[in-house]
Amino acid sequence: MGHLYGRARATGAPIVLDRFAHESHNAIVLGQTGKGKTMFTGAEMARCFMRGIRVSGVDPLGDYRRLVKALGGRYVELGGGNGINPFALGATRTEAAFVGKLTLVGRLVVAMAGGLSRDERPALDRALRSTYDAAGIGPDPSTHDRRPPSLAGLVEQLAILRGGQVLAQRLERWATGSLASIFTADEPLPVDARLLLVGLDAIGDPDVRAVAQLAALSVLWDAIRRDKERKLVVVDEAWKVMRQPSGAEFVEELARSARHYHAGLQLSTQDIAEFLRSDFGEAIVKQCDIRVLLGQTPEGVDVLGRYFDLTTAERRSLLHARPGEGLLFVGQSHVAFEAKVSKREYEWLTTRPADLLGQSRSRYDAPNSS
Ligand SMILES: Nc1ncnc2c1ncn2[C@@H]1O[C@H](COP(=O)(O)OP(=O)(O)OP(=O)(O)O)[C@@H](O)[C@H]1O
Ligand SMILES: [Mg+2]
Repeated sequence: MGHLYGRARATGAPIVLDRFAHESHNAIVLGQTGKGKTMFTGAEMARCFMRGIRVSGVDPLGDYRRLVKALGGRYVELGGGNGINPFALGATRTEAAFVGKLTLVGRLVVAMAGGLSRDERPALDRALRSTYDAAGIGPDPSTHDRRPPSLAGLVEQLAILRGGQVLAQRLERWATGSLASIFTADEPLPVDARLLLVGLDAIGDPDVRAVAQLAALSVLWDAIRRDKERKLVVVDEAWKVMRQPSGAEFVEELARSARHYHAGLQLSTQDIAEFLRSDFGEAIVKQCDIRVLLGQTPEGVDVLGRYFDLTTAERRSLLHARPGEGLLFVGQSHVAFEAKVSKREYEWLTTRPADLLGQSRSRYDAPNSS
């Protein structure tokens, strides 16, 4: 059983797919701005949710807020009064989970610090353990219920370690002041919700937003590994989190291991050249059995044309594609297709300012909604 992805352009035949029937359950949407990535991703979320698949993800620009609210899901806005504590331990209380947590927090701290010098690495490893230690938490699962430490605790530990002072200074702004509220929380994320999105558009600074995206993904990932239920994990604007080497490495790891937890990643990216140039971009695309190419700039067509071995006619079609039109690759085969959305889906997901201003219905004509 699957659900509708769109129609074949040549025949009009509906295309129905079940990502969980494929070896990798991941999908990626590659398209220039305004060509339908959000519309496609949101419709995919809604359709999976309706089929009983658990959906979670991160929403950097607030594009999915209306959809999530309409479907009765949970939408947690970071920076708008809500935060997440990267140190909070997930539901799996094992020594291995604790060690995994140290890796996740370490990676996040590297992103906050903008990289580490050689002698900062061991200092960070030691400081992470002593930060948990100071909160009475260690590998022993019986300590995992205790109140987790915070970034401020880590800064304190680093400040007294050889090789840690400069790093402590770089982290200061994340641990105190306005940014601190993004990375501290009284409540954990409601990871049991059937539909949960973490919204980041209240965070103005794009660098901070990229780190928050990584922090939110880490917490969601903790929850995803708990069970083998089918789930969709949305990483919109993946290239933003992948600008940080530690973020790129993390997304690649998610893509590679998602299927072990019966999870499918739904990735999208606008900047194809940057994405494929990153050390991990190509590896990620290889981990996606479903690939959607939407409208492209001439540079994008060039890069994708070579990568996907597209014919001249296919390249031209991507150059002139209307929103929602493109090529759908499933495994080795591909077809020219048109993503179809219902009127309701369109209204929940449109990002066109004219639609959002609530102009009279007769003024807008959803280009290819059914
Ligand atoms: N499948 C579709 N059917 C009908 N209209 C669509 C479809 N996809 C996109 N559109 C139209 O194009 C607009 C822009 O699409 P969307 O917001 O999905 O672009 P995007 O690729 O996410 O852009 P950005 O990279 O800027 O976020 C939508 O608001 C809608 O009006
Ligand atoms: Mg978008």
